[in-house]
Amino acid sequence: MQRRSFLRVAGGGAIASAAAPLAACSSALPDVAIAPWRGPGQEPDLRRWVLAHAILAPHSHNLQSWLVDLSAPGQITLFLDRTRLLPETDPFSRQMMMSQGCFLELLDQAARERGHRADITLFPDGEPAAQAVDDRPTAHVRLQADPAVQREPLFAQILRRHTNREAYEARVPAAEAVQAILRSGAGHAFRAGVTTADEAGTFLQQRQIAKQAWRIELTTPRTVLESFKVLRIGPAEIAQHRDGLTINSPVVRAINALGLFDRSRAPAADDWATTGQIDTFNQAIDSTPAFYWLISEGNSRVTQINAGRAWVRAQLAATAAGLAMQPISQALQEYPEVEAPYRAIHDLLGAPAPAHTVQMWARLGHAPAVQPAPRRGLEAHIRKA
Ligand SMILES: Cc1cc2nc3c(=O)[nH]c(=O)nc-3n(C[C@H](O)[C@H](O)[C@H](O)COP(=O)(O)O)c2cc1C
Repeated sequence: MQRRSFLRVAGGGAIASAAAPLAACSSALPDVAIAPWRGPGQEPDLRRWVLAHAILAPHSHNLQSWLVDLSAPGQITLFLDRTRLLPETDPFSRQMMMSQGCFLELLDQAARERGHRADITLFPDGEPAAQAVDDRPTAHVRLQADPAVQREPLFAQILRRHTNREAYEARVPAAEAVQAILRSGAGHAFRAGVTTADEAGTFLQQRQIAKQAWRIELTTPRTVLESFKVLRIGPAEIAQHRDGLTINSPVVRAINALGLFDRSRAPAADDWATTGQIDTFNQAIDSTPAFYWLISEGNSRVTQINAGRAWVRAQLAATAAGLAMQPISQALQEYPEVEAPYRAIHDLLGAPAPAHTVQMWARLGHAPAVQPAPRRGLEAHIRKA
């Protein structure tokens, strides 16, 4: 979940006038927060070069919960940083596991780029339980030079892939591009598809379900507060944390500077901070010409990892085709208040729960380019002895 255009200030007299001097402020992110998007350059250490690509993976709430141990020569041990969970909106850490999968996919692609095979052993000490993650590693990875290894064409998109929350153009993505996106997941045992207005009934229902789930999340105080905890407003906070949900618009910075943005309390359902976000999201959904979905049978931890791998491949393939994507996870989440849209999207996509899990659901279309999201940089991910 992501809150981009948080806070509409229509009618906010004091706020609007306080914001006026800031109109010339840039909403460009601080360089330190986006420097990792320049890539590792000539980094001589193969493990670091590969990892510098992996940390550009998508992650729910941009929490970057990837922790690596490099103490064993030639090996990368990946852990889930359990200080970075989202217990309210991701109570079973399914999205966390997908985000670990996204990381492993980019790691694998980067290794191939350098003529190496990444031998990945998932859950070498056993798989975490279905309801809770633990401290055991997600994966052991060994990089082996291998002349037979095939380079991955999607690798070229890693530095270009960004989640795009803008309004999308009305034109429907070309069939060829959709096919490329769906083909990118081949090799994984998932059912994936794209719904457009050609399937009017189900398409309009998807819009409705997405909106309903978003409204629930925004009017459930504990899920709102969970986002507030990782909300970074303005260049200083963004540069300090380089993760989470970032807002850098001059107006919101002004509101925050005036002390009018209380992150310790969820706004009421009829507060403009809530209704403004709902309006913005609804407009984005109404502009969306296509929805992508990814469904698994079963929902083991390995399945979740592989769903993450398939998802980032789809987003890279969309990037290659000049298309934008944005996950809309709200209806896929497993907390009680959102149960009705959860069931609705599963039933609509012919994937009744619990036998099936809609692992990813996303907007797809043409959109203006967006800035990269902050990254903490490789050093922050290396576990210190
Ligand atoms: C499992 C998963 C779920 C996500 N859910 C959402 C979502 O509901 N809404 C959204 O705007 N972005 C969502 N994202 C995208 C992340 O917010 C995004 O990857 C992160 O902010 C980093 O930005 P980037 O993808 O541009 O690098 C999700 C990503 C993952 C991997």
